[in-house]
Amino acid sequence: MKILVTGGTGYIGSHTCVQLIEQGWQPVILDSLVNSKASVLGRIEQITKHRPPFIVGDVRDASLIEKILAEHKIEAVIHFAGLKAVGESVAQPLRYYDNNVHGSVVLMQGMQKCGVKTLVFSSSATVYGNSSAPPWNEQVPTSPANPYGRSKLMVDQIMADLTLADPTCSMTSLRYFNPVGAHPSGQMGEDPQGIPNNLMPFLSQVAVGRRESLHIYGNDYDTPDGTGVRDYIHVSDLANGHIAALAYAHGCAGHHVFNLGSGHGHSVLDMLNAFGKACGRQLPHTLAPRRPGDLAAYWADPSHALSTLGWHAEKTIDDMCQDTWRWQSQNPNGYP
Ligand code: NAD
Ligand code: UFG
Repeated sequence: MKILVTGGTGYIGSHTCVQLIEQGWQPVILDSLVNSKASVLGRIEQITKHRPPFIVGDVRDASLIEKILAEHKIEAVIHFAGLKAVGESVAQPLRYYDNNVHGSVVLMQGMQKCGVKTLVFSSSATVYGNSSAPPWNEQVPTSPANPYGRSKLMVDQIMADLTLADPTCSMTSLRYFNPVGAHPSGQMGEDPQGIPNNLMPFLSQVAVGRRESLHIYGNDYDTPDGTGVRDYIHVSDLANGHIAALAYAHGCAGHHVFNLGSGHGHSVLDMLNAFGKACGRQLPHTLAPRRPGDLAAYWADPSHALSTLGWHAEKTIDDMCQDTWRWQSQNPNGYP
């Protein structure tokens, strides 16, 4: 079965393409390369011995979308393409709404025109408000705190509206918690441009000597060790979650929402220690003020994905850190 994977050369998209190929699906990748490199294709090929068709282009290009859906006889779409930097979304909200919301609308219009009924969308735990104690299930009230999070929620809502208007559609939102880790081969991983915003890519650049020291954003939270707690999920588990969702949703009309997380919270110090173990030395760190907008602690209730999709995260934070370290140490400057 042929699947259009938008954003397929990005971090999560590339790992999902590998697992799609390994499990017998046929991904066709569309990516504008705004935040990824074409050399990712060579890595997918090295791992799977298959080079998926790749089109450089933008999801907002309606005629291109229709052409790809028709020419490749696409049966379902996994939609990763989007911008994801929270701070940038605050500074450039129109760019985020245009890319993430308008882009998704153009994609869905193309799907409607070409009779493609199944969509799996990259949403985020950031759509939830902070009014509920963790773990968060899919019924936690939504209340995103920034334009990035609102762009994700808007697309969720558009997908729900579309299934009301056309009950034959199958629209699935996957709400990721904190995706980290890398392919166990060390051939693929996260390759952020500039200074990483997120904990794991920053830590791994400290480990490889590209950054001096990790700044721990606050140690006075109401958590067991005072540092922020999150639900880290290995990107390979996340990729499998997409395939489980696709297998379930294709042919099962309606609007479906699943949390994809491990169900466990880990602190910044837990991750620092696990990474130190993986790379064989204690990593330099300094205490810094809290980062504005950060919550103390949240993690997923992933039981809906388990009971409905039969999916659960299997990898530990040690796996996440070992695989990230293998990728970072073999590719200190990321993809060529
Ligand atoms: P990424 O930036 O590595 O991948 C996104 C890909 O989409 C990139 O290759 C980029 O070039 C491409 N892209 C962006 N806009 C495009 C457009 N208009 N047309 C075509 N291609 C476009 O990010 P990622 O971490 O792999 O995230 C994938 C998706 O998952 C994103 O939608 C992101 O918002 C969502 N998500 C990510 C996280 C996370 O922490 N990584 C958490 C929750 C949700
Ligand atoms: N942290 C540090 N130092 C750093 C970076 C992060 O101490 O240099 C801390 C943060 O304060 C937080 C934890 O590490 O306690 C995790 O921070 P990340 O930036 O890695 O992740 P967030 O939970 O803030 O946000 C991420 C993505 C969002 C996404 C969200 C989903 O950045 O895009 O997960 O829950 F929406």
